[in-house]
Amino acid sequence: MKEFIEGMPKAELHVHLEGTLEPEHIFALAQRNSIELEYSTPEEVVAAYDFHDLPSFLKIYYAAMNVLREEVDFYELACQYFEKAAADNVVYCEPFFDPQAHTSRGVDFKTIITGIRRAQEDAAKNLGVESNLIMCFLRDMSAESAMEHLEMCLPYREWIIGVGLDSDEKDNPPSKFEAVFARAREEGFRLTMHCDVNQKDIHEHIRECLDLIKVDRIDHGVNSLEDESLIRDIVDRGLGLTVCPVSNRFVVQSLTSEEIRTMLNKGMKATVNSDDPAYFRAYMNDNFIELAEEGNFSRDEIVQLSRNAFEIAWLPADRRQAYINELERYSQSAG
Ligand code: HPA
Ligand code: ZN
Repeated sequence: MKEFIEGMPKAELHVHLEGTLEPEHIFALAQRNSIELEYSTPEEVVAAYDFHDLPSFLKIYYAAMNVLREEVDFYELACQYFEKAAADNVVYCEPFFDPQAHTSRGVDFKTIITGIRRAQEDAAKNLGVESNLIMCFLRDMSAESAMEHLEMCLPYREWIIGVGLDSDEKDNPPSKFEAVFARAREEGFRLTMHCDVNQKDIHEHIRECLDLIKVDRIDHGVNSLEDESLIRDIVDRGLGLTVCPVSNRFVVQSLTSEEIRTMLNKGMKATVNSDDPAYFRAYMNDNFIELAEEGNFSRDEIVQLSRNAFEIAWLPADRRQAYINELERYSQSAG
């Protein structure tokens, strides 16, 4: 199974580029940008990773990205993720970035997006990894700030496929951003939002995503299984869910393998993703392999999870079909 998973063509639809910042890179960037760190070795940084819920993770995540300052820093960050993706046979991805986490520190939007874009072009050319970028708004910042950033990104409209919503979900419901997402829809962006695991008011948040924001997919969304009407609407609308097994383990002490199997059985388009792989110490193959082990998943189930990702990806029909054909060829030929 491990070999089968490693060789399988995959799409990753839920990965925060800032969540791919490796401890060694934090040190290299700190040195180049003359920034003092609280830690003296990359090992000490990893030892300080003590996540048990979303806020405890976010605190460390935002502190570390302070080393990202110049265009080349964002370029390197994205290049390193694409190299990991290529090594894991991720052939297509839709990474998130969090511009407000950088503009709030005085980094220009242009610096961030041109660095990431250059890495995307190089990855497509040199690694055969195709990607489309998703811009996330930080839900613990104001709706006005989100709207400003939506306007800020319009000169780069062609470089961004969709918008998302992440960061601290507590008391920051989708409805807070109704006008921002309505405007984003008018501008032609695809829409997604985090509905993180076991958050306060999570069922209401998922309901608002469906009926008020009318999202094109949901990030996480595992708690939808606790409400029959949410399940029915997600299935009827063919909405995808980007589930992150190893990330979930920090919150619920399991890879949510039973929940993922239930989603497949109910016809919900669940997918496997890494979320913040440098922090959770698990990239795509690790997520798939550990999930298959915990849930004793069959090959058919693993292939279905990968197929779901291509099916819900924001790709034109011909590209989607080409990837699905590649996956089918692989699953039929693999001994
Ligand atoms: N949830 C919310 N915000 C985030 C996450 C996440 O999984 N990763 C990075 N920012
Ligand atoms: Zn996430």
